[in-house]
Amino acid sequence: MINLKPHEFLTAWSQDEFSRRPLAVGRMRLADGRFEFSRFWNGTEESRRFNPIESLPETPHAIALMTDSLPDSWGRSILARYEQACARRDERQPHELTETEVLTTIADSERMGAMRFSPEQQPESFVGTSPTMLPRKSELEAYAELTAAFEQKRLLSAATLEPLVRAASALGGSRPKIGFVDGSGAQWIAKLPSIYDTRNMGAWEYAMTRLAMRAGIEVAPFELIDGTIFATRRFDRSPRGRRHYFSTRALLAADRNHEPRSYLEILMIIEKVCRDKVPEVEQLYRRVAFKMAISDGDDHLRNHGFLLSESGWHLAPAFDINPSPSIEHLCLTWDEHCKDYDLEGLLGAAPFWGIAVERAREIVADVRRAVSGWREEAAEAGLSRAEIEEMACAIRC
Ligand SMILES: Nc1ncnc2c1ncn2[C@@H]1O[C@H](COP(=O)(O)OP(=O)(O)OP(=O)(O)O)[C@@H](O)[C@H]1O
Ligand SMILES: [Mg+2]
Repeated sequence: MINLKPHEFLTAWSQDEFSRRPLAVGRMRLADGRFEFSRFWNGTEESRRFNPIESLPETPHAIALMTDSLPDSWGRSILARYEQACARRDERQPHELTETEVLTTIADSERMGAMRFSPEQQPESFVGTSPTMLPRKSELEAYAELTAAFEQKRLLSAATLEPLVRAASALGGSRPKIGFVDGSGAQWIAKLPSIYDTRNMGAWEYAMTRLAMRAGIEVAPFELIDGTIFATRRFDRSPRGRRHYFSTRALLAADRNHEPRSYLEILMIIEKVCRDKVPEVEQLYRRVAFKMAISDGDDHLRNHGFLLSESGWHLAPAFDINPSPSIEHLCLTWDEHCKDYDLEGLLGAAPFWGIAVERAREIVADVRRAVSGWREEAAEAGLSRAEIEEMACAIRC
């Protein structure tokens, strides 16, 4: 781990598939346990291209854009256990990791989006780089065993945990997952079964993602491996390099994933940063209708985001599409107050979204038609009749 002293700075760089070279965009250091930006380079053509901050409704502090460069609970739990294992090995007391340690320990190659970091004194060396390769698909089963041992809180050595630190600690979300590469070298994320699962989460995510695709929702290429592992190709990587990605949590400068917010705020982001707004607004509306139809109430702010492509900022492909029978409403409101699973109500709200009622009806009809095939999709994913019927309470079409 790099041990930066509180007064030492990191340089934040933007380097995506279109950058001729990395562009220094910020200078940051830890203050009172939190990062602060001491400077942000604005105004160059390159920084205007990637930096959505200037056009946002309420300009969040630039530091909010670092949210996605840091892991969520899964990655953080790996790093915490790794620190304990290192402390045992080195015969010292473990300590709680600082945000700088988290930022600098996670693998640079796995970091979300196209931000990179270097110590200010060594601008040529990005933190978190490592010569070791990411796992291959054929190794996923072994990693599933390792993550199960991890979840069971078995005593694992630092050396055993190192591959997990490398492949998994940068990723967002709370479920066990790791990054891997396919035969062509493309990066994927594998969501692994958890010992706490009460159903086959991978198979359900696969079935629901197939339905979403049928309902006209854009998703990244995905597959179901060994009947239980849901894998998705990373949309923030291309054969040419990285792509900038910011979650709506980052863009709205929210402190928590589950902060109570509204889809209308995501519409404001679209309004400010997307060029061709109508298809993006309709796509978001379609996603909300779909989430209502499958009771996907885990639609928090880090489960939506925006991606920078050659044609500018767009909604990122949808991900984490899961039925949640135990959650009774959406996380985000779809008008000023309401977050109910209510397709008729959503139709009534179409004018607030700037969508003509006739068009809204078409979108909701597409969603209903696609979702009506849920039993077949679930069976295709290998789910049993009993598992399917148990889910019936969550699906409305
Ligand atoms: N295809 C993809 N390409 C790039 N990044 C992705 C992709 N799918 C997911 N992600 C990123 O990985 C993170 C974790 O994925 P996901 O939300 O599916 O996991 P999760 O553990 O189920 O999350 P949660 O804690 O919300 O239940 C997302 O927040 C997103 O940043
Ligand atoms: Mg998620």
